[in-house]
Amino acid sequence: MTEKQTYAADGFDWEGLRAHAVDAAKHAYAPYSNYPVGVAGYADDGRLLQGCNVENAGYGVTLCAECGLVSSLHMTGGGSLTHVVCVNGSGEVIMPCGRCRQLLWENGGPELLLMTVSGVKPMSEVLPDAFGPEDLA
Ligand code: THU
Repeated sequence: MTEKQTYAADGFDWEGLRAHAVDAAKHAYAPYSNYPVGVAGYADDGRLLQGCNVENAGYGVTLCAECGLVSSLHMTGGGSLTHVVCVNGSGEVIMPCGRCRQLLWENGGPELLLMTVSGVKPMSEVLPDAFGPEDLA
């Protein structure tokens, strides 16, 4: 399957959402790794949300781009993420780190669709057997 076919498969404009992630990466503060990251997603009411990574002299304090995305989700009305794309400074799709997969799970659940390096996948495939809110019920 080619990349273009993957983007078109579910009728969603993945290329458009990726372009919003590329824009977000331009705001990254990544002086230590020199690895800008941008992320863009839609909330279930259609809101577009974006985030970029923000590094810190205390390296471990670094905020991944997805942290900004999730904060923006809650700041602008809450709800749940439905579609997400994460890119590096070259505009290439990257996989969210393990911690950020957990963030996406909390804020999108198993049905959130993520553009991955191997095509569009639901979070249930990206983070199988995830620990989540229902485990605390
Ligand atoms: N980074 C993200 O923003 N999201 C990820 O899912 C992977 C890693 C950032 C953190 C750090 O600023 C840089 O990429 C290099 O690890």
